[in-house]
Amino acid sequence: MDLGLSDRVALVTGGSRGLGKAIATAMAAEGARVAICARDEETLRQTAETISGTGATILPVVADVTSADDRERLMTEIGDRLGPVEVLVNNVGGNRRGGICGTTDEDWQSTIDLNLMSHMQLTRSVVPTMRERGCGVILFTTSIYGREYGGPGMSIYHTTKAAVIGLAKALALELAPDGIRINSIAPGSIRFPGGSWDKKCLADPEAMAAFVAAEIPMGRFGTAEEIGDVVAFLASDRASWITGACLNVDGGQSRSLI
Ligand SMILES: NC(=O)c1ccc[n+]([C@@H]2O[C@H](COP(=O)([O-])OP(=O)(O)OC[C@H]3O[C@@H](n4cnc5c(N)ncnc54)[C@H](OP(=O)(O)O)[C@@H]3O)[C@@H](O)[C@H]2O)c1
Repeated sequence: MDLGLSDRVALVTGGSRGLGKAIATAMAAEGARVAICARDEETLRQTAETISGTGATILPVVADVTSADDRERLMTEIGDRLGPVEVLVNNVGGNRRGGICGTTDEDWQSTIDLNLMSHMQLTRSVVPTMRERGCGVILFTTSIYGREYGGPGMSIYHTTKAAVIGLAKALALELAPDGIRINSIAPGSIRFPGGSWDKKCLADPEAMAAFVAAEIPMGRFGTAEEIGDVVAFLASDRASWITGACLNVDGGQSRSLI
């Protein structure tokens, strides 16, 4: 199936590794011209080199999405080098584990800034041009733990990931008349080299095998490529009737009925 993403200008935040790298790779494979940003220059450069080796256009920009100056420089550089962003994939995200008395205001604020505010702020910066053009796609990476409880010590993650789902839904309704589609993706447990689940598997393979057996009906972790493919589809005109959705990509891991 041709997704029709050829020549579209896309930005994938946190595109240097993990899910973001797979998303950028999948979109570049469909012919999109993809900008990726992250803070670590060397990892970003290596990823850009790998993707451009396939003949794709890729623009790596070192930027911290929680910095207003960096966001402005990022958007200016993309505008100058590739043109206006037509697909924004808000992928960055992180977690600070701990109970209510074990986490600080700084833990909460920094994670809110990363998981929620940066998504909203970058969305606000692309909407005016998308509005003028009468089209655009914005995607948010949330988690199945934005939809349901995932265990103790996860309050910051739950709060921010649930907020992202709410933000995506509200903006989808607000911006539908402008031809802008907005959806969120809720991955389950995704294993890739160097990622958090990979580290847990290497540290305690038996416990992780038991976790998979108990929690993931498909009997394995998901792959980053499986997320990349879904995002590329949602970014494409083939998903033209999908807006305001939150899509689980989780091998059946989530238990929520809604
Ligand atoms: N992995 C999973 O199983 C899973 C499951 C559900 C949801 N998710 C969500 O999926 C998204 C990606 O997860 P992941 O596992 O691929 O994460 P990851 O391996 O930690 O990668 C995060 C990416 O974001 C970049 N990044 C982090 N902070 C940044 C900042 N302030 N400014 C710019 N870039 C920043 C990182 O590069 P630098 O560190 O160099 O900046 C990296 O490229 C997150 O939103 C996560 O919550 C993941």
